[in-house]
Amino acid sequence: MTPVIIDTDPGIDDAIALLYALRQPDLHVLALTTVAGNIGLPVTTDNAARLAALAGRTVPVHPGAAAPLARAAEPEVAIHGSDGLGGVFLPEARLGASRHGAVTALSDLLMQTPPKTIELHCLAPLTNIAQLLQHTPDVAGRIKRLIVMGGAVATRGNFGPGQRAEFNLGQDPDAAAIVLHAGLDLTLIPLDATRQLRADAAYVAALRAAATPRATTCADLIDAYFGANEDRESRPLHDPCVPLLALHPDLFRVETRLLQVEPGTGALIDGPHPIQVAMGLDAAALRARLLAGLAIAGSPEAGTSTAC
Ligand code: BDR
Ligand code: CA
Repeated sequence: MTPVIIDTDPGIDDAIALLYALRQPDLHVLALTTVAGNIGLPVTTDNAARLAALAGRTVPVHPGAAAPLARAAEPEVAIHGSDGLGGVFLPEARLGASRHGAVTALSDLLMQTPPKTIELHCLAPLTNIAQLLQHTPDVAGRIKRLIVMGGAVATRGNFGPGQRAEFNLGQDPDAAAIVLHAGLDLTLIPLDATRQLRADAAYVAALRAAATPRATTCADLIDAYFGANEDRESRPLHDPCVPLLALHPDLFRVETRLLQVEPGTGALIDGPHPIQVAMGLDAAALRARLLAGLAIAGSPEAGTSTAC
């Protein structure tokens, strides 16, 4: 079982990733750390705690950065709604937000655990991780690896002027550069891959047929994700690619690319840093794995009785 800390800004696709990861027998989620991204920090923190409750987990939630390192946050309200989750109802949190902030929690967990045992799963702007590396550089060598959803390599982005950047890297380019240029064991999953993992109406129907509280909530989340874009046939499942890569690396095509983060924009450009990049994936197989993971029966999902 791999110990992981998930850094997240829920966020519709973050929510699906969390509801999947928190119940996987081969992942031991030690903590969630939250950051401003899709919506402001108080909301991402509350959403993370409610999602843990829906998954029947009492995992601690540590709030992190309320804004990027050197600029104002630009939330994605148009996509994720003012509550970050498209208005989808979630149960009350079991635990309030921890008094220990994200950087303290990350540092403590990494220092208390043998080196190279904890994976960081990064679903959001990289502000918390950059602050960790800045404030406690000794921990860098203790991270087993990072799996980061972010960037656009050979495809258009979804953020900033000309849509050259991707949201997570473009929202905080300074943090992205600190993390991606640090020489860590890091696998990046950019839009090139994540846009291939899509949910359509048939997938929503399959989730509803699975009929677990988590699968039903994911169906509601994907319906909300269509929102004003009902003309589209499917929506991308960006963040679930992170736990899926951790559990099913054979279903991703990973290449080494020489890249750097462009200052100011967060776009990925040619550069000197060798980075492992997932450029492709087996979408059908991964959709099936995600569905199966959300449909796991197993032990009761406490705290879910009013969720659906
Ligand atoms: C990324 O940006 C956010 O809006 C999503 O949650 C995902 O992490 C996709 O570009
Ligand atoms: Ca996210």
